[in-house]
Amino acid sequence: MSDFLHIKSLFRNYDVHFVDDLTRPLQGLIDHHAFFIIDSIIWEIYKEKLKGIIPGGRLLIVEANENNKSLDKCREIIETLVARQVRRNEKLVAIGGGIIQDVTAFSASIIYRGIEWSFFPTTLLAQADSCIGSKTSINLGDKKNLIGNFYPPSKVYIDTAFLYTLSVDEIKSGIGEILHYYLYAGSPLFDELLHNYDVVISDRTHCMRHIRESLKIKKSVIEIDEFDRDERNKFNYGHTFGHAIESVTDYAIKHGQAVTVGMDLSNYVSMKLGLISPDVFQELHKKLSLNFPEFDLNKINLDQYLTFLLKDKKNIGNNMVCILAKGSGMLIKQQLPLDNHFKEMIHAYFTRELQKKRMVAE
Ligand SMILES: NC(=O)c1ccc[n+]([C@@H]2O[C@H](COP(=O)([O-])OP(=O)(O)OC[C@H]3O[C@@H](n4cnc5c(N)ncnc54)[C@H](O)[C@@H]3O)[C@@H](O)[C@H]2O)c1
Repeated sequence: MSDFLHIKSLFRNYDVHFVDDLTRPLQGLIDHHAFFIIDSIIWEIYKEKLKGIIPGGRLLIVEANENNKSLDKCREIIETLVARQVRRNEKLVAIGGGIIQDVTAFSASIIYRGIEWSFFPTTLLAQADSCIGSKTSINLGDKKNLIGNFYPPSKVYIDTAFLYTLSVDEIKSGIGEILHYYLYAGSPLFDELLHNYDVVISDRTHCMRHIRESLKIKKSVIEIDEFDRDERNKFNYGHTFGHAIESVTDYAIKHGQAVTVGMDLSNYVSMKLGLISPDVFQELHKKLSLNFPEFDLNKINLDQYLTFLLKDKKNIGNNMVCILAKGSGMLIKQQLPLDNHFKEMIHAYFTRELQKKRMVAE
């Protein structure tokens, strides 16, 4: 198993292994008395294979939905583990996407003040982004990712065969996060990925190149700013606007596609503030909109949307902390007062989008 990416962390360094057969790493974890927290859909699809490897008493099946990214679900998991006499030297193993990762990592971080966990990411988003970086995030009511800590896995195993059963929407969600890393870094793969957009979606062997590149960009930053105090803040590009889109649509829009619209909105604000020219905005808009969700923006309640933005955990006083663009590879952090001018820009962006949709429809 020589194909890996080494990640330096202030907690413990860890490796991301690229594998084409899960049996050996799974067997190794069973030998170390691990408990497995598995996405219910993954269990349904892969149970014939997994049943032969994972003993029933070591298995917890969890439905991957945002309601389950909760303190209640983590408490239920911890109570089950304690009832099954989990020991401090045993591990948790997450098999699923970002939701299963977040509940597993957070539970692992607090049980007995922390036991190790490993991760088999099964979505494009989890393979290309969330599997490294140490963050755990739990929702509090309708407030997304409000609770959490930093707690890296001890090992990550990426098997891209999982991507073949993933829906097109989930692939597009992963592409959204990958595009955000490419714009952060000013990577030429931004254009390449969008140029081959349909091919990447239909033939998932193309995803591997983007998973590696995206992880490489993320690694370069989390290794110098693991606790998100400085440079890593820029990875929030598109996310504050995106989280509010997810919340206001009750998660009808997937995370990475909400981030894609969020980046476009951030670029729009950047243009209005004179940081980029209308031409640069238009050029990026044309490219980003390839990965926009099939969602009628008319349905977004703008007052509610602004309320979600006002509640964002990263706000400082009455200011929103925005990551804005001066161009591809040139992101900056800026505080913007959440005043009428700001609200007008948000209204104008969505109205503009709606007008464009109407023009297309006519
Ligand atoms: N902790 C972090 O660093 C971090 C980073 C980014 C995102 N996140 C969080 O991750 C979550 C999104 O995660 P996600 O996009 O990976 O997806 P997910 O975990 O929400 O799963 C999406 C859907 O795909 C299904 N699924 C998963 N793997 C599958 C497969 N191989 N085949 C078929 N179906 C499969 C799941 O059951 C679910 O229905 C959000 O809650 C987001 O906040 C966390």
